[in-house]
Amino acid sequence: MGVRAVLLALVLGLMTMVSGAWAGETGPSFPKAQGNCVEDPATMRRHHFDFLKHQRDDTMRQGIRGAKHSLKECVSCHAQVKDGHAQPINAAGQFCASCHEYAAVSIDCFSCHATTPQQQAEAKR
Ligand code: HEC
Ligand code: HEC
Ligand code: HEC
Repeated sequence: MGVRAVLLALVLGLMTMVSGAWAGETGPSFPKAQGNCVEDPATMRRHHFDFLKHQRDDTMRQGIRGAKHSLKECVSCHAQVKDGHAQPINAAGQFCASCHEYAAVSIDCFSCHATTPQQQAEAKR
């Protein structure tokens, strides 16, 4: 009986840790951006993929560019600069990748889209 009680306590403890992760206390860690996000960070954590998809649909169908939820802007703010060079935002431990590895999400966006502001300037997208 004693062993079971201890195990139960451990499992409950783990569950609290996991839910705490999405509140930003533990879990994936990534370089912090400067300035203000396009929405508040809590909203972004929960809805960034919806925003990105709507934005893409708007651009592709209606030719709207430079709007609020542009993927280009995400990269400009969220790519970490180390020793004067921006790190690819989808590299291990970097902003987009850190959470996605943790949550086992895979995205194909960066097979086409630039992963650093420099690459954007060269490729213009
Ligand atoms: C003007 C700069 C800026 C732009 C543009 C920007 N962000 Fe942010 N973002 C921030 C800052 C600052 C924070 C809060 C600090 C941090 O977590 O890096 C933040 C937080 C976030 C968070 C929550 C991170 C956490 O703490 O859990 C997500 C997710 C996010 N941004 C995604 C995006 C996406 C996706 C885009 C493009 C649609 C974007 N951001 C555009 C600056 C920006
Ligand atoms: C096969 C190549 C390809 C893939 C994969 C791709 N895109 Fe795009 N995307 C484009 C092209 C081309 C444009 C139009 C270029 C422009 O508007 O500058 C575009 C435009 C966009 C835009 C509007 C422009 C901007 O910078 O905000 C967003 C947002 C966007 N894509 C998001 C995504 C997301 C999110 C994914 C992954 C789920 C993705 N794309 C995957 C090719 C791609
Ligand atoms: C704070 C953690 C976190 C950060 C940072 C983050 N993501 Fe996500 N992202 C998630 C989670 C969790 C999901 C899965 C959500 C779901 O499926 O309900 C997701 C899903 C997505 C999806 C949808 C994938 C699909 O198959 O539908 C796209 C697109 C996406 N993220 C793009 C980005 C981009 C681009 C960045 C960097 C600019 C980024 N994310 C940064 C946590 C994050």
